[in-house]
Amino acid sequence: MKNNLIGVLEPVHKPVLLKEVLAAFEHIAPLNNQAHKGNKPIVVDATLGAGGHAKELIRRGFYVLGIDANRKMVKIAGENLRNFVTSEFAHRAERLSEPEACPTGNFDEFFKIVTSNFVSIDRVAHESGFENVDGILFDLGISSYHYQFSSGFSFQNPDLALDMRLSDSQNVTAADLLNALPYKKLAELFAQTIPGKAKRLARCVEQSRRNRKIETVGDFLKIVDSAIFITKRMVGKNQSPYTLPFLALRIAVNYELDNLKIALNKSCGVLKDGGVLAVISFHSGEDKIVKDIFKDLVEKKLMKWKEKLVIPSTIEILNNPRSRSAKLRVISRL
Ligand SMILES: C[S@@+](CC[C@H](N)C(=O)[O-])C[C@H]1O[C@@H](n2cnc3c(N)ncnc32)[C@H](O)[C@@H]1O
Repeated sequence: MKNNLIGVLEPVHKPVLLKEVLAAFEHIAPLNNQAHKGNKPIVVDATLGAGGHAKELIRRGFYVLGIDANRKMVKIAGENLRNFVTSEFAHRAERLSEPEACPTGNFDEFFKIVTSNFVSIDRVAHESGFENVDGILFDLGISSYHYQFSSGFSFQNPDLALDMRLSDSQNVTAADLLNALPYKKLAELFAQTIPGKAKRLARCVEQSRRNRKIETVGDFLKIVDSAIFITKRMVGKNQSPYTLPFLALRIAVNYELDNLKIALNKSCGVLKDGGVLAVISFHSGEDKIVKDIFKDLVEKKLMKWKEKLVIPSTIEILNNPRSRSAKLRVISRL
């Protein structure tokens, strides 16, 4: 095993609904997947992650502009995609006896990666030289890698700082929010994912921080323990009592829902006529935003529905349990 970030962690993140995402982009795919950069259809992968979806798009002849807010993910994706392009296209050249088809380290024929929040998708596309693109993909949330190298996302590591920032350019951590927000704001924060228990949890946070500053994952686990009793329903669904409180905090620290609204509305203007916008969401808060904005864009006759709702097959869920709550919705520009 290679002694680098990828070698140590691989393989951890399986791209969700991959077949279905590729099908959504099929009608804009190039006829010849050896086309040169100028002729390739351009897809913005606004949540590049480890590059799982991007790799398959590149394989099919798309040029990918990848965006991720997290520097470590950008490093991992860069390494993955460079390795992929080198082996895929060298292998093809050998098979076709066309040595010139093998890239010579010039990866900008295939992809470009930008470290940015997708809220600036229009600016990133413009600064990369693309006024209008053929497709945009959002695969929301965090990658499996985040649980391993970012602090606070996982409740398996109680001693780590309760951080949860997607990007090191952000200033406010999850612990900062718990220590500073007034009761009402805390209750609103938790109501995003656990409306029935939000007030009780907010009161327990208030009580706990009166005694001692909240700093670690373990501090928050104890607070959740004091506020939430495990119900039969949770046991039946094999759901941890920590999942939804942690999700609420992550959403708040990273302004996830506000950023999603802004980015989806901007995306319409970044697409060329016939361009495809595909979004995979993982919880009801995200999915409601996607559904409402898509409906609105369709009603305004700016976009039309391509796929109202696609969910993973039972086989995919068995192979990749992380996919179980995924929902894919697709629209295209009129
Ligand atoms: C679910 S993962 C994507 C996985 C990817 N499709 C793959 O197959 O490897 C989501 C990625 O989006 C990034 N991300 C989440 N919110 C973001 C935002 N607002 N701006 C930019 N990147 C974001 C996360 O850092 C994470 O790497």
